[in-house]
Amino acid sequence: YEVKLDSSDLSLGAYDSYMSKEIDEQPAVLRRILKHYFPDQQLKINNQLLQQIAASDRIYIVAAGTSWHAGLVGKQLFEDLTDIPVEVQLASEFGYHLPKLSAKPFFIFLSQSGETADSRQVLVELKKLHKLTLTITNVENSTLAREADYSLALKAGPEIAVASTKAYIAQIAVEAILAKAVGENLHLTTAQSFDVQQQLSLAASAIQTLIDKKDLIEQLAATYFDNQESAFFIGRGNGYYLALEASLKLKEVSYVHSEGFAAGELKHGTIALIEQDTPVIGFVVEEKTAELTRGNIQEAASRGANTLIISTEKLQQKQDQLVIADLDEHILPIAAIVPAQLLAYYVAKKRGNNVDQPRNLAKSVTVE
Ligand code: G6P
Repeated sequence: YEVKLDSSDLSLGAYDSYMSKEIDEQPAVLRRILKHYFPDQQLKINNQLLQQIAASDRIYIVAAGTSWHAGLVGKQLFEDLTDIPVEVQLASEFGYHLPKLSAKPFFIFLSQSGETADSRQVLVELKKLHKLTLTITNVENSTLAREADYSLALKAGPEIAVASTKAYIAQIAVEAILAKAVGENLHLTTAQSFDVQQQLSLAASAIQTLIDKKDLIEQLAATYFDNQESAFFIGRGNGYYLALEASLKLKEVSYVHSEGFAAGELKHGTIALIEQDTPVIGFVVEEKTAELTRGNIQEAASRGANTLIISTEKLQQKQDQLVIADLDEHILPIAAIVPAQLLAYYVAKKRGNNVDQPRNLAKSVTVE
């Protein structure tokens, strides 16, 4: 299949890497998604697809790697806006350990490339069972897009760097739009009053503000990561899911060993690994758990960790190094991941790594 590329998509221009270029493209990606899903300001998604999801009794999101992390953020969005329970599954596990499925399940595959073998294997199994499937992908004529019952486009533009950045935020954005559309189909007031257009526009500005603070993030990368070979990212709720993605980004491109943790779990073992100056990055992005998360970050600090806090304007305290503009908590991860993407990029760059093509990794993994 031939993928049509605009020459501006492939030229690096003044950038030293695709990863850096793709991080910067993120506000434009959100605007492109809005234009695609709201032609004439009206939300437009295949009505039959919306009815099928609305009629289901459980949504299963199946994905791998960064896409799985985007699926985790999608869970709360779908549950809150559609009232349908959601399970998020790793494709490589799910395919061979199919749980007892609900009576009317609906399956959503999230895949940047649309070619991941682990996800395809699950899709093939589900088709044998005549289950309903949707693929949300960046490659509109990919295998997963063609083989599922329905497909939706991410509209992120070609993602060249192996470490996924703009596709991750696009996945959350499209999940948000789809969740709203399904919720409206069910006449749910939470969905009707959720202004996804406004939130995604605000997220685009919030990301731009963070990108404009690149120099500060480059400095933080040096202060926290020079001479460090291990790091921990922690948070609760979406902060936990952000920690997983932030940690993956760092290890993929910088080769610094890192782990993402539910903040409350750190004390149940992993805190033993904290040494003097170990970087611990905390996401304080959820109102109801902000104080608890701060407590967990403090526990790490009192064991010698060098702590860095990413919070929001509403939850901000004066010691926080990076503050994200306030957004609806469901949408916030779209902006809150950006400082972590930039941190990973700067740590990798300083170490002289090939940020676009990290060792041992491939953009799309077509073996199980
Ligand atoms: C590979 C890539 C990851 C990606 C994962 C899933 O391992 O290196 O960046 O998250 O595959 O890819 P997909 O194309 O299905 O989103």
